Amino acid sequence: MEGMLKPGSFKEKTIVITGGGTGLGRSMGKYLLELGANIVITSRKKEVIDKAAQELMKETGGRVLAVPCDVRKYEEIEQLLIVTQKEFGQIHGVLNNAAGNFISPTERLSHRAFDIVVDIVLKGTYYMTLAAGKNWITKKQPGTFLNIVTTYAWTGSGYVVPSACGKAGVLALTRSLAVEWAKYNIRSNAIAPGPFPTEGAWSRLLPGELASKFDPAKRIPLKRVGEHQELANLAAYLLSDYSAYVTGEVVTIDGGEWLRNGGEFSHLEDVTTDMWDAFEKMRK
Ligand code: HXC
Ligand code: NAP
Repeated sequence: MEGMLKPGSFKEKTIVITGGGTGLGRSMGKYLLELGANIVITSRKKEVIDKAAQELMKETGGRVLAVPCDVRKYEEIEQLLIVTQKEFGQIHGVLNNAAGNFISPTERLSHRAFDIVVDIVLKGTYYMTLAAGKNWITKKQPGTFLNIVTTYAWTGSGYVVPSACGKAGVLALTRSLAVEWAKYNIRSNAIAPGPFPTEGAWSRLLPGELASKFDPAKRIPLKRVGEHQELANLAAYLLSDYSAYVTGEVVTIDGGEWLRNGGEFSHLEDVTTDMWDAFEKMRK
């Protein structure tokens, strides 16, 4: 649960974090600040990011710029990059973390409900990526993208179908540009977290009684949900120069959840020792 990188690893580095005022974006941002980074946090809600910026600066002594920006609006992203460079100069990394999600049987969704999630997750990420990537390429500057996806980006998942479609697209974007933009010294990686408690995710994915009915920890071989610092350590590594040779990768951090739930015989963990003894007797 401790910070992993050397103090000062992000000294004089500037990282832009979409959705950086809440949840995991805020936790990753806090750790980057502790490592010496300047961070820029963005989201649609000015009051949320302004408050988060004040608190983060107080907690870490670092520099935080809060810029309202809807990642579905390309002009707002361009403006965000202008303001960031004015304040901090060069941008070194972009953490595409903003997302929208909720659970619903797909047949109950309106097309607008489908749009809203795909637009935040996929369009928001490729708009941010396109704008920042062009900026780096024009200025001949290196850069690093880190995209937050989920494990159902590759398995798919019922009841969160717009999110699954959006995250799958983000994973394709991550891998495609890792190859295409390597010649510009731009890296592109992703993290696929399993359940990490946040107000934003829990309120939308485990509303009402679902939280007690479907305890996520029960589906996880390591029998617990993730700690924010564990994710922050991985994110900091992938955004740092320590991972300079890593690109096009997606790192899963889920306590074994997705493999367990795909494994044909994973449910045999419910077989008791007595039952295993009885099977052995039968076999002999
Ligand atoms: C069905 C819904 C819905 C729901 C909204 N809609 N919520 N449909 N079930 N629960 C529909 C609305 O009826 C409307 O369609 C359309 O979606 C737009 O809804 P609005 O409320 O106007 O949108 P908006 O206020 O912009 O809010 C966007 C949002 C909201 C995505 C719906 O949840 C949000 O702001 N989310 C941001 C943060 C977030 O989602 N964080 C969780 C990420 S967790 P109609 O047809 O009526 O106009 C995550 C974890 C993944 O991704 C993996 C976990 C292990
Ligand atoms: P969260 O706190 O709700 O974070 C989502 C953030 O995205 C919010 O700050 C939100 O701010 C911002 N956002 C939404 N729409 C936006 C838009 N159009 N433009 C700019 N910002 C926008 O939830 P979280 O759990 O920390 O999720 C963070 C990331 O982790 C997401 O990518 C999510 O898919 C991923 N993830 C989470 C979990 C988990 O268990 N928590 C698991 C796997 C993956 P505003 O509403 O103010 O715009």
